[in-house]
Amino acid sequence: MAFTVAIDGPAAAGKGTISRAVAEHFGFAHLDTGLLYRAVGAKVTQGVDPLEAAEALKAEDLNAEGLRTQAAAEAASRVAANPQVRAALVDFQRAFATRAGGAVLDGRDIGTVICPEAPAKLFVTASPEVRAERRYLELTEGGHEVTRAEVLEDVKARDARDSERVTAPLKPADDAVVIDTSEMSIEEAVAAAIGAVQARGAAT
Ligand code: DC
Repeated sequence: MAFTVAIDGPAAAGKGTISRAVAEHFGFAHLDTGLLYRAVGAKVTQGVDPLEAAEALKAEDLNAEGLRTQAAAEAASRVAANPQVRAALVDFQRAFATRAGGAVLDGRDIGTVICPEAPAKLFVTASPEVRAERRYLELTEGGHEVTRAEVLEDVKARDARDSERVTAPLKPADDAVVIDTSEMSIEEAVAAAIGAVQARGAAT
């Protein structure tokens, strides 16, 4: 049976970890929709037209190298403000969301635009400072040379771009369960998310 879990929230709030854990717990497939925008952004950086890149996007493009870098995140955030690019990516996401066996999609507009009918919607957030600290640790552990101040500035700039854009801005759906992970461990955040999805009717 199809069951869609929509998980939205800003960068580095813990969405990815929570989405993967929720998908694993319920045996659902998982789609990190940020990868779609990152893959399109990467193509645009190589000189491809944004709409052409979005229309030609294939599932295997999501495995391309370099999509997790800061540069790809920056390029993604820019193409994500383009309404034509967003429209071109809707069908791919809806097809994934309605697959038999259940699906978890995480992004910025899953509960508001892509799957407004999803029975379970979560909005995972944390303060900009906490998110910047998590991203800083992730980047420096991965060997990237960045300062805390640079990462905080980047988090705030992306928040502003994602929340203030006209098309599909980042905001919780009216019926989303908001989970603020600022003061939570990963285990606590995952437990809260699984509990919320169960409360919305997913079978354990
Ligand atoms: O979640 P992420 O960091 O991989 O997302 C990269 C960018 O893509 C982010 O700045 C916002 C954008 N995005 C979006 O607009 N809508 C989505 N559903 C997912 C990501």
